[in-house]
Amino acid sequence: MKIAVLGAAGGIGQALALLLKLDLPENSSLSLYDIAPVTPGVAKDLSHIPTSVHVDGYAGEDPTPALEGADVVLISAGVARKPGMDRSDLFNINAGIIKNLVGKVAEVAPEACIGIITNPVNTTVAIASEVLKKAGVYNKNKLFGITTLDVIRAEDFVAEKKGLPEEHVRVNVIGGHSGTTILPVLSQVQGVEFSEQEVIELTDRIQNAGTEVVNAKAGGGSATLSMARAASIFGVDLVRALLGKQGIIQNAYVDGGNSCSPFFTQPLLLGKKGIERVLPFGELSPFEEQKKQEMLSVLHADIQKGIDFVKNND
Ligand code: LMR
Repeated sequence: MKIAVLGAAGGIGQALALLLKLDLPENSSLSLYDIAPVTPGVAKDLSHIPTSVHVDGYAGEDPTPALEGADVVLISAGVARKPGMDRSDLFNINAGIIKNLVGKVAEVAPEACIGIITNPVNTTVAIASEVLKKAGVYNKNKLFGITTLDVIRAEDFVAEKKGLPEEHVRVNVIGGHSGTTILPVLSQVQGVEFSEQEVIELTDRIQNAGTEVVNAKAGGGSATLSMARAASIFGVDLVRALLGKQGIIQNAYVDGGNSCSPFFTQPLLLGKKGIERVLPFGELSPFEEQKKQEMLSVLHADIQKGIDFVKNND
């Protein structure tokens, strides 16, 4: 299996590449691409870690060599937020980056599964789908907005609040990946009771966790290490599923035929061809149902922005 990381010299990309070098199945091939000239050096650096994962690195304007034969492409390229910005403020720069990179994927590795980390994910995934449709290679079972960071944060914050071991807490997070569109379904957490106040506080913290990091980094960017960990969990699970491991479930932001939104984060059964089955997100409490209804206009506008961008930038 060949996994390409686009944006591999950045804060997320380098940490993600390290985790993939350590955690991908034996004899996988890891291909790093970034516009930055340091990228072959990052690959050389990683190649000295003794695992059977083979690493190559490519720099410059053209990602083609990194994409040739790729089965999975993870995209973290783009700029990050500074304090006071929303993820949507990144649109002007990152929309064009995603359009160009996904255009290359469509040309060079049209069968690859694509995982998008670049913000605003609610919109960049819609951009990717439009680009792939135009190229005639769109497969909705192979395009993912990576939202695993919302899940691991939710699990960490719940464990902390309730004094539980992190590995015992599972939280389903649905919707999208920005502010109020991030909806942790706390009513489904097994074996844990929350007061109304706890639900309000935890929901708010999970929705604003990215901003917590942006503010703490004080102008130095947004989450890189936790995002890399989240993307590696998703990426490694996707590779395992493509290789035939059964029963792998991950949440991601996909075109899953959900009646409430053209793209929606929910649990997915992964398989040899990407999404094997979109799973129901389950019953919501009245609080969660109300939050879901309230987010939909934001989500729809974010998606439409991506569709319009591709239409207007032919
Ligand atoms: C996050 O959730 O930390 C990332 O989407 C980065 C950001 O801008 O918040």
